[in-house]
Amino acid sequence: MKVQAQNGSAWIMEMATLGMLMLALIWAQSAQAVSQWSDYLNTEHRFEHRHIDGADVIVMVVPETSGAIMLPKMWQDETKNAVSAALEVAEFSGKQGQMVELLAPPGFYAKRLWVVGMGSELNRFDAEQLGATIAAKVTDKMSTVVVHARALSPSQIAAMAHGMDLRNYRFDRYKQTPKARPSYVTHWHGQDGEAAEAAYLATKPLAHGVFVARDIINLPGSDGYPAAIAELAERAVAPYGIKARVYGPEQVKAMGMGALYGVSQGSQHKAHLLVLEWHGGDKGEQPIAFVGKGNTFDTGGYNLKTSGDSIVRMQTDKAGGGAVIGAMMALAGEQVDFNVVGVVPLSHNLISGTATLPGDVLVAGDGTRIEVVNTDAEGRLILADGIWYARDKLNARAIADIATLTGSKVRALGTDYAAVFSDHPELLEAMKAAGDETGELVWQLPLGPYKGIIDSWLADIQNVGSPGAQAGARLLQHFAKDTPWIHLDIAGNAYATSAKGIHPAGGNGYGVRLLAEWAKRYAEKTQ
Ligand code: BES
Ligand code: MN
Ligand code: ZN
Repeated sequence: MKVQAQNGSAWIMEMATLGMLMLALIWAQSAQAVSQWSDYLNTEHRFEHRHIDGADVIVMVVPETSGAIMLPKMWQDETKNAVSAALEVAEFSGKQGQMVELLAPPGFYAKRLWVVGMGSELNRFDAEQLGATIAAKVTDKMSTVVVHARALSPSQIAAMAHGMDLRNYRFDRYKQTPKARPSYVTHWHGQDGEAAEAAYLATKPLAHGVFVARDIINLPGSDGYPAAIAELAERAVAPYGIKARVYGPEQVKAMGMGALYGVSQGSQHKAHLLVLEWHGGDKGEQPIAFVGKGNTFDTGGYNLKTSGDSIVRMQTDKAGGGAVIGAMMALAGEQVDFNVVGVVPLSHNLISGTATLPGDVLVAGDGTRIEVVNTDAEGRLILADGIWYARDKLNARAIADIATLTGSKVRALGTDYAAVFSDHPELLEAMKAAGDETGELVWQLPLGPYKGIIDSWLADIQNVGSPGAQAGARLLQHFAKDTPWIHLDIAGNAYATSAKGIHPAGGNGYGVRLLAEWAKRYAEKTQ
């Protein structure tokens, strides 16, 4: 386009077209930029009950029994009792997760028959897992799945459909030729289709939150640096009415958050602070706060992670931050009637001539001077300022922090349980119950007296001590002061190289479901 004008009116014309073009461009960009639930899945659930001919598979969900399994008469007649004979050979009793897969005889109204056991009781997590078990068996070639689920309640059906969705997420943007994504329609034949549909629709913000958390975990360190994660989060939360603010490095420094700033001062990607707010309650009501570790890559700094095994996949060190962003989406999507804020300190722990040195002293937002005895204990440094911000600037009534904090935790508990630390019985009880409900299990470790565990001869405190997971927790507690506080160490929990249950390979979004459930339980108890 010629910008130079020949005469006045042509110039106005050109400006007008230019303006329209720019508007169209901005519109296209923002429309594309907003993260949609539908960006993630090609699958669909339908809940109206009608007969489907020629389905790729019919799944029958049956309760556990010591007697004969009850099957539709049509199946028995049309298969000359082959189904019950097969179940007998397979010693099928309806135990939860047990599955017998049969190819239907020619002329049958579907191509396959899968009989799936639901056990004698099916809680929310069991139902999600059952759905995932089915999803894991559906192949690229199938387009129609019918689930006979008359033994299930609407909420159990919704949980199963949700479990299928969680399993069907794929992170394929780094493949030259992505494999075809699961793409099929599931027809649910239960008792009350409308109620099941309503319950299922209510799970969508939670699934979206898990998907966004997984995206965040999965992004490599050179693409998912602090500013990029902040921007991704702003876009993802926008449709949910969450207020988002991002503070850049200069603002972080100006607000006095020297512990957060110090961790990335050696990187070209400097510190950011992401703050999310959901106003579901009264204006003056103090919010519940989440604080999540968003260290977008952990080299260890000058205390370099020197083995390939210890440094690899340290892009997942932002999983706590991802969990906070996802949990905010879930709660806002559900329109919860209390106030909740999410604080995500974002850092990039790298080495250069300007990096923090072992032995340096950083001044945190609350004025505490921290001797950095080990630059690899960076998570607690950025969280210190995040927790301070939640308490001091956002006036939180309770704080839950979540972080891939210590190898010590992995050695103590492995990767199935998260470690939980708190002195507050109410927060703890709600967290344990939320863990059982969501299958994101937690195990309490003591905060101790552990007297003197992070004392420093040089500064006010130092950033390491022994035992390792407890030293991390105690440092965070220092910044929570007397605000009710609970800490989740999720090192090792948020990522796996192979699929399992409701999680495909890669980041799993651990903590999204747990935090959302915890906040609801805690809010209800403390109203
Ligand atoms: N991000 C790591 C913790 C981690 C380790 C997460 C393994 C996932 C898997 C954390 O920043 C770290 O490096 N912690 C050190 C602390 C130590 C230097 C006191 C650790 O635990 O080794
Ligand atoms: Mn580290
Ligand atoms: Zn780390």
